[in-house]
Amino acid sequence: MADTAKLIIGDKTYELPIIESVEGSSAVDIRKLRIETGYVTYDPGSGNTGSCKSSIAFMDGKDGVLRYRGIPIEQLAKKSTFIETAYLLINGELPTPEELKTFSVLLNDHSLVHEGMRHFFDNFPPGSHPMHILSSMVNSLRSFYPEIPERSEEEEINKKVARSLSKVRTLAAMSYKISRGFKVIYPKPELTYAANFLNMMFDSPVKPYVIEPEMVKALNTFWILHADHEQNCSTAAVRLVGSARTNLYTAISAGISALGGPLHGGANQAVIEMLMSIEENGGNLKPYLERAKDRKDPFRLYGFGHSVYKTYDPRAKIMKKICHGILEKFNISDPLLDIAHELEETAKKDPYFIDHNLYPNIDFYSGIVLRAMGIPINMFTVMFAIGRLPGWISQWLESIEDPDWKLHRPRQVYIGSGKRDYIPIRKRNI
Ligand code: SDX
Repeated sequence: MADTAKLIIGDKTYELPIIESVEGSSAVDIRKLRIETGYVTYDPGSGNTGSCKSSIAFMDGKDGVLRYRGIPIEQLAKKSTFIETAYLLINGELPTPEELKTFSVLLNDHSLVHEGMRHFFDNFPPGSHPMHILSSMVNSLRSFYPEIPERSEEEEINKKVARSLSKVRTLAAMSYKISRGFKVIYPKPELTYAANFLNMMFDSPVKPYVIEPEMVKALNTFWILHADHEQNCSTAAVRLVGSARTNLYTAISAGISALGGPLHGGANQAVIEMLMSIEENGGNLKPYLERAKDRKDPFRLYGFGHSVYKTYDPRAKIMKKICHGILEKFNISDPLLDIAHELEETAKKDPYFIDHNLYPNIDFYSGIVLRAMGIPINMFTVMFAIGRLPGWISQWLESIEDPDWKLHRPRQVYIGSGKRDYIPIRKRNI
């Protein structure tokens, strides 16, 4: 592997250092490029730009590989729980039994939310999207749980991590109950993280919720699959906002805002809306496929394609299995699954999708799993956000400890007007 890259501009040759990766792309270090050459690089969407060094997740877009701290997603999905995987992402190693117990107790201790937050919910207009509510509520955590000067920075950060992981889940269930005028159900110390969430969502004083182990396992796996994914849009938002030295809650609130977009985490809701629309239109896929291929049409085949994976998203393969398992176990027949299957089969034979390397991504089957769990469609992306919490937290922690870290401040290529003078209004448009 070369240890420098040569860049020739005009009659000058510049040498730029190479930063070697453990796996995947190594990098040309361009930190001195502008000072030495006067040039900047141009990379809209930063798809070819490393914004940081990271040791948290690794993806191989060609072979469809995803590992968290080196462990393949397939093994974690099969053997781990969401909280154990969260511990792995945040701390770098799988926990010992003692460490896992301590972590679970810490999360339980921080599972309630300030009663004052409930009144917050009351003032959102009816029909407010849960992602907008969640982003605001998470940002307000700093006000409800201010730093205490006597605490060390490490202690403060540990509390913020536990509160973020535990209270966001409680806030999500609370927003669902309040939006429907139902009694808010509090977390129970005897329940695990995922079981507590399902109970807080669906338990009722008149109809106790029966916690099914298979549903809890499916939810754990669902969240494990969403837990981290290198420098995706919402994680980049967390790092960018965090680079201004904002606190963890504010950075996560920015991540939630970015995740809500239909090209990102909001796609899981958009997929179901697309499948429902196909069903309402008699199951005819053709118009949707034609629109997806029309570059003038902003419509995309939601749940298909990926900025990194140019093959089947390894998480989508597992999500598809969860889908079949849940529907079979609980004897649920969902016509949208049949449409999803037909769409996948049709797209994989279509030259457009083949040439563009468009395969199902994590969002394609996830909505059908959530429907089977009874999660309302406008909460699908909230479910993605809860799953991504450990990723956002671990990436934020890694950024504040990174010796190379700087305030995020990209440059530009200016293509606007050259210097010109102000024209008094009476002389304009003459
Ligand atoms: C997530 O980054 C992450 O890791 C994200 C995520 C995570 O875990 O954090 O994995 C979660 O966001 C998954 C993606 C969910 N989004 C969707 O399902 C929305 C539909 N997908 C597309 O919008 C698209 O595939 C993107 C945005 C996800 C990725 O697009 P690319 O490959 O970065 O770049 P692009 O949009 O320029 O697409 C390249 C070409 C274009 O055609 P041409 O102009 O070159 O002819 O592929 C076409 C696009 O039009 N294309 C699609 C398409 N996806 C890409 N055409 C139709 N339908 C699609 N779904």
